Amino acid sequence: MSDFSGKHGLVIGVANKRSIAWAIAQATAARGARLALTYQGRFEEHVNDLSQGLTEAPLVLPCDVGSDADIDAVFARIDQEFGGLDFVVHGAAFAPREELSSPFSQTSRDGFRIALDVSAYSLIAVTRGAMPLFEKRGGGSVLTLSYLGAERVFPNYNVMGVAKAALEATVRYLAADVGQKNVRVNAISAGPIKTLAAAGISGFSSILGVYRDRAPLRRNVDTGEVGDAGAFLLSDAARGITGEVLMVDAGFHVTGM
Ligand SMILES: NC(=O)c1ccc[n+]([C@@H]2O[C@H](COP(=O)([O-])OP(=O)(O)OC[C@H]3O[C@@H](n4cnc5c(N)ncnc54)[C@H](O)[C@@H]3O)[C@@H](O)[C@H]2O)c1
Repeated sequence: MSDFSGKHGLVIGVANKRSIAWAIAQATAARGARLALTYQGRFEEHVNDLSQGLTEAPLVLPCDVGSDADIDAVFARIDQEFGGLDFVVHGAAFAPREELSSPFSQTSRDGFRIALDVSAYSLIAVTRGAMPLFEKRGGGSVLTLSYLGAERVFPNYNVMGVAKAALEATVRYLAADVGQKNVRVNAISAGPIKTLAAAGISGFSSILGVYRDRAPLRRNVDTGEVGDAGAFLLSDAARGITGEVLMVDAGFHVTGM
């Protein structure tokens, strides 16, 4: 059921071996998917190096999700190379560093715009770009990554929490819009994991500690666990699931205190 043989996927958001998107790439590739990986400028070498570790060489392409031209070029190239697409992983998020340490009321207009554009609007642009390629396969599946900060307040998560709230609403609106074309759109809300993006959040280690102490499983999750859950949501095993935000956080979200 979670077999990806003969399937093609696009994975956006690999920066290094600790990236959640990389874990999802590995989980789907291990089950037979052929991938296209995109990188943001400075990560080209990392992504090229990592791609050597996959059994089937991926297509490696540059893409800034803030650029419609980049997104168009990626899908044009994938169409040439794969002749269609079965799934997309959207693992890109960004907010200017100062927005993740100052008091929330100091959020700048520009910081808000950038965070929402890169972290939430881009899911719409990417899904729209993928639609003609999904149609060639009779359907498709999109997965993005969120955090509980969309619903509750975490210190210094600030405008990223607002962006994740917009992202989760975007998942529901996109799911309703593209469902008739047999395209599913879901999110995983992952527990905190020490990645490059997480390092930008002031006091992130204390969040890890709170999860370790209070989550029902009394531990944090790792990227492999998010990778496996991601492969499930992208696969035919989840064919009845869309518009969903699946919590992969060792159960932390159910706790009251
Ligand atoms: N690490 C956590 O604790 C955690 C928890 C829940 C959700 N998430 C989410 O998971 C996703 C992946 O983050 P991660 O933790 O693996 O960190 P990461 O730093 O490895 O990945 C973030 C990625 O976003 C990419 N990116 C940023 N701006 C971009 C742009 N303009 N164009 C294209 N790509 C861009 C970066 O290149 C990087 O590959 C993010 O959406 C993040 O918010 C992370």
